[in-house]
Amino acid sequence: MASHFSLSAISLLTLLSLLLTATASPDTASTVIGATYSASTAATYPTPPTPERVASAVSSLGLSSLRLDVSDPGLVRAFLYSNTTLLLTIPNALVPPLASNRSNAMRWLYAHVVPFFPRTKIAAISVGNDVLESTPEFSQFLLPAIQNVHLALLDLGIRKIAVSTTFSFVNVVTTPFPPSAAQFQDAPLETVIRPLLQFLRDTNSSFFINVYPYNLYRLRSEIPIGFPLFQEHPFSFRDDMATGVRYRNLFDMMVDAVISAMAVAGHENIPLIVTETGWPSSSTDPREADANPVYAELYIKGLLGHLRSGRGTPLRKEGVPLVYIYELIDKQVRQGRNWGILFPNMTKKYKSIDYSSGSDSVLGGFGFLKMVVGQFLVFAFLLRGNAAISLL
Ligand SMILES: *[C@@H]1O[C@H](CO)[C@@H](O)[C@H](O)[C@H]1NC(C)=O
Ligand SMILES: *[C@@H]1O[C@H](CO)[C@@H](O)[C@H](O)[C@H]1NC(C)=O
Ligand SMILES: *[C@@H]1O[C@H](CO)[C@@H](O)[C@H](O)[C@H]1NC(C)=O
Ligand SMILES: *[C@@H]1O[C@H](CO)[C@@H](O)[C@H](O)[C@H]1NC(C)=O
Repeated sequence: MASHFSLSAISLLTLLSLLLTATASPDTASTVIGATYSASTAATYPTPPTPERVASAVSSLGLSSLRLDVSDPGLVRAFLYSNTTLLLTIPNALVPPLASNRSNAMRWLYAHVVPFFPRTKIAAISVGNDVLESTPEFSQFLLPAIQNVHLALLDLGIRKIAVSTTFSFVNVVTTPFPPSAAQFQDAPLETVIRPLLQFLRDTNSSFFINVYPYNLYRLRSEIPIGFPLFQEHPFSFRDDMATGVRYRNLFDMMVDAVISAMAVAGHENIPLIVTETGWPSSSTDPREADANPVYAELYIKGLLGHLRSGRGTPLRKEGVPLVYIYELIDKQVRQGRNWGILFPNMTKKYKSIDYSSGSDSVLGGFGFLKMVVGQFLVFAFLLRGNAAISLL
């Protein structure tokens, strides 16, 4: 009991200090928006679009980044000289061989990175995707594999590609609410996450996590539908009593739960990248009435509007630097749920959604506007001050 109390007291202090620094910083959050392309298997895409078609779809949607679930070199080549950044994924099956011998990591990099980088803007590599859940027997090899990929990149003189691995929220975080009480589950924390966080800090990399408000909403019947769908409503909020923070959407709550869990594990400053999030527009399961195109559009529109607002989350005013929508294209063979923002024929599913992140020049423009508005306010204040003086 005593040890529980002191742990939560320490974590509360950490969170309160996070909150103070978060409140002190201005609205400067800016998030790059990407999508995941999971060209998984021939069974789901019997006639996959050509890599060139995928690349042109990504740029015409205005997406700034693409996460490749399966890092086919043909796809990486299709992004030569484009401004789209890529996040590559190494399949789970390669984790043990990469861990056992750095020359295997080198071989993978020679096939997927060396021929293209830096003309293709490869920003990061995820060693495996949800290894803890999908292939738990490989968990012990995860960190050595990540280290070997990192060292092999250094051997090649490449310092700009971050290396990490991808987790799934529901498999690693104890509780989403209240966010301040969230911690990593004991087993993955001690074996994988704690040493990984240290590696991420030492190498300036980020924590990658798949965050699905949709799945949490389905598990918790007390959550009203407006909460995951970013429908701001006077009575739609949840207060975190420990931090005094009010949450108005489930996405922020889940992100802050991860931030809290990292803070409790001793790392409050590691950037968080959301490698997957989305809402299905249909499902083969008739009980999933909430998997419909109206809700899916509300979720994606609400998410992008929230990310562009520059408000970040209550515990992280600088927000999440990069969010990947799951997923780019509906699977051609319909299985379970459909998540794509494009139909299999590559047309847009939600006509009115703008997927662009807002380029640097646009952000620069807003910065300028803010400064002008700020000066105007100061000016107006002085005028009123003068008026007050003359009235006296
Ligand atoms: C990439 O960005 C640069 C700078 O904004 C721009 O000049 C160039 O045309 C862009 N290239 C492509 C292929 O969009
Ligand atoms: C790693 O692989 C290389 C090339 O296949 C081999 O020469 C070397 O002996 C291997 N090292 C270990 C420790 O297995
Ligand atoms: C760490 O990452 C930040 C943001 O991407 C970058 O500005 C900085 O130069 C990096 N530092 C090192 C030591 O790589
Ligand atoms: C593409 O597929 C969607 C969904 O099946 C359909 O509604 C649309 O008419 C198709 N567009 C074209 C140009 O084939």
